[in-house]
Amino acid sequence: MRREGGFDLILISLAVALGLSLYVGRMQAAVTLPPESRALQRHFYKKLNKCANVEPFVRHQVSLWWNREKNITAKLLKLVYADCMVNGCDASILLDGPHTEKTSAKNSGLDGFLLIDKIKKVLEIRCPRAVSCANILHLATRDALYFAGGPSYPVYLGRRDGMESKASWVDLPSPAISIDQGITYFKSKGLDDMDYATLLGAHTMGKTHCANLNDRLYNFNKTRKPDPSIAKSQLDELRKQCPKTLKKGQKDPTMFLTDDQYRFSNKYYSNLVSNKAVLKVDQDLLQSYNTSELAHEYAAMFQHLKQQFSLSISRLGGLKVLTGNQGEIRLNCRFTNKNNPYT
Ligand SMILES: *[C@@H]1O[C@H](CO)[C@@H](O)[C@H](O)[C@H]1NC(C)=O
Ligand SMILES: *[C@@H]1O[C@H](CO)[C@@H](O)[C@H](O)[C@H]1NC(C)=O
Ligand SMILES: *[C@@H]1O[C@H](CO)[C@@H](O)[C@H](O)[C@H]1NC(C)=O
Repeated sequence: MRREGGFDLILISLAVALGLSLYVGRMQAAVTLPPESRALQRHFYKKLNKCANVEPFVRHQVSLWWNREKNITAKLLKLVYADCMVNGCDASILLDGPHTEKTSAKNSGLDGFLLIDKIKKVLEIRCPRAVSCANILHLATRDALYFAGGPSYPVYLGRRDGMESKASWVDLPSPAISIDQGITYFKSKGLDDMDYATLLGAHTMGKTHCANLNDRLYNFNKTRKPDPSIAKSQLDELRKQCPKTLKKGQKDPTMFLTDDQYRFSNKYYSNLVSNKAVLKVDQDLLQSYNTSELAHEYAAMFQHLKQQFSLSISRLGGLKVLTGNQGEIRLNCRFTNKNNPYT
């Protein structure tokens, strides 16, 4: 279950491995990256002679934030996912206002916007009107993942910002989808089952509300019994954290998706191969041949997860990007330039 030979050489540095796969992708009609992403480049700002230091500027801001708020990594990964899957990686998810992707019901609970605003502010001082919000989002996510113990990978740049956002475009699937629906959805966007199994690894980090798993614990599929796929020891543990009934006035509790809390690791996969996944969508990776193979591989080899995660998130980051003269460089990530109340 590997995309191509380069990944067999574990000793190859990640940057080289990724560069190689991109190269192979281009040579062979883009088997690795979506075709739309071909306009993206390494060292885009150096070549442009504008804001050559953008990467260290972003990394510094992310490090300051990370030191205070470790949950920023999971937040940014969610933003990238919600942005890129819906109408491409154009930072439309960052736009404020009624009837936007941000305000759509499926995106409630999205967060991380303040860090993006902070980075944008710094960049507008250092190199005005140069760096798109879409590029900032991808750089910041790479850096936050790195601080969380994840891979560092080269981010291909050159994305520009979209000029509209419509809630009607929000077609993110419900978290309760079956594995076949999940894979079909990914394929409809130009990704595949490997990307699905790999990007779900983001669920190593962060928390979930008990409401998202209570049916698995107490009334699975209206059987009044727990989900038979949960290991007994895990069921006991999860029930402790998510009681059947809440005390009056008690808020829906949250729980970490894995013990690694805010660290990127392969814990998610080792849990699920021993039937200890928290969410059904995660446990279901064992229900399909390719994704089950991959889950076992990642559970055994963190290095493989890091390599493939770099590639899958780069593929995600290349979906339907705006480049060249398309879109614009927003001055404020929350508003298109036309609607910016501060200019
Ligand atoms: C994220 O972390 C910050 C700082 O530790 C905390 O105040 C906030 O409640 C956390 N957010 C979530 C959704 O857990
Ligand atoms: C599983 O992998 C094979 C080989 O890459 C591929 O042809 C097949 O479509 C995959 N199955 C799914 C459900 O995507
Ligand atoms: C839920 O129950 C229905 C009806 O009994 C059954 O057809 C379906 O396969 C069950 N779903 C799962 C995920 O077990």
